[in-house]
Amino acid sequence: MTKLAIIGGTGLNKIPDLEITHREVCHTPFGEPSAALTHGRIAGSDVVFLPRHGATHTIPPHRVNYRANLWALHHIGVDSVIGVAAVGGITSEMAPGRIVIPDQIIDYTFGRDHTIYEKDLQHVTHIDFTYPYCQQLRQRLIDAANSSGVGCVDAGTYGATQGPRLETAAEVTRMERDGCDIVGMTGMPEAALAREFELCYASCAVVANWGAGKQEATISMKDIEKNLILGMEHVRKLLTILLRETV
Ligand code: HPA
Repeated sequence: MTKLAIIGGTGLNKIPDLEITHREVCHTPFGEPSAALTHGRIAGSDVVFLPRHGATHTIPPHRVNYRANLWALHHIGVDSVIGVAAVGGITSEMAPGRIVIPDQIIDYTFGRDHTIYEKDLQHVTHIDFTYPYCQQLRQRLIDAANSSGVGCVDAGTYGATQGPRLETAAEVTRMERDGCDIVGMTGMPEAALAREFELCYASCAVVANWGAGKQEATISMKDIEKNLILGMEHVRKLLTILLRETV
């Protein structure tokens, strides 16, 4: 029986469908996770929820303690993690409101604590990261998106930027040349740390806006928030279907 966790991003600080059983405060060798872990059930399945940016959305992407978050989930016996994340759309299919299940990553972040293999090592460890997401969990997300009627883009390359500022138009142009389809600020080191902890990890990205330079108007937080309301509604629907099929 898999034990699944959902890391919620911007727009998904809590999940109304979650019947909460209890909350668990974890202290880790890497410091404090973003919030207490919320245990509960969705559609009859056990699930753990962790809001990446804190319970009241106060932790910016570059300050998230990714290592503590993944350590805590691993420590309590979670084996699969869905990272829900808001992103900007770069390539033409990635329009605001769409759900994307990426299959590749390019990492542009810097200065983040991005590994657990840092000190007190018995030996140097290099994890395989050729395919950064767990294919089985990706497929479950894609199937759930399709059977819920929400639909999704079933592949794409996630470009992870440092934030918290949005990108320049030239940066997005460069990212497109590099092969990125979407841009977000939290995909790394979350995915790599999940692999280091041997967790099955996949990302469920919601496009909140066109990336910088891809639309005429400047990107406003108001527009992002508006698109995320509907997008996250779709994510909730998708997660309910996914968890119903887990029972
Ligand atoms: N860039 C980076 N992160 C984001 C964006 C964006 O345009 N939109 C939502 N998260």
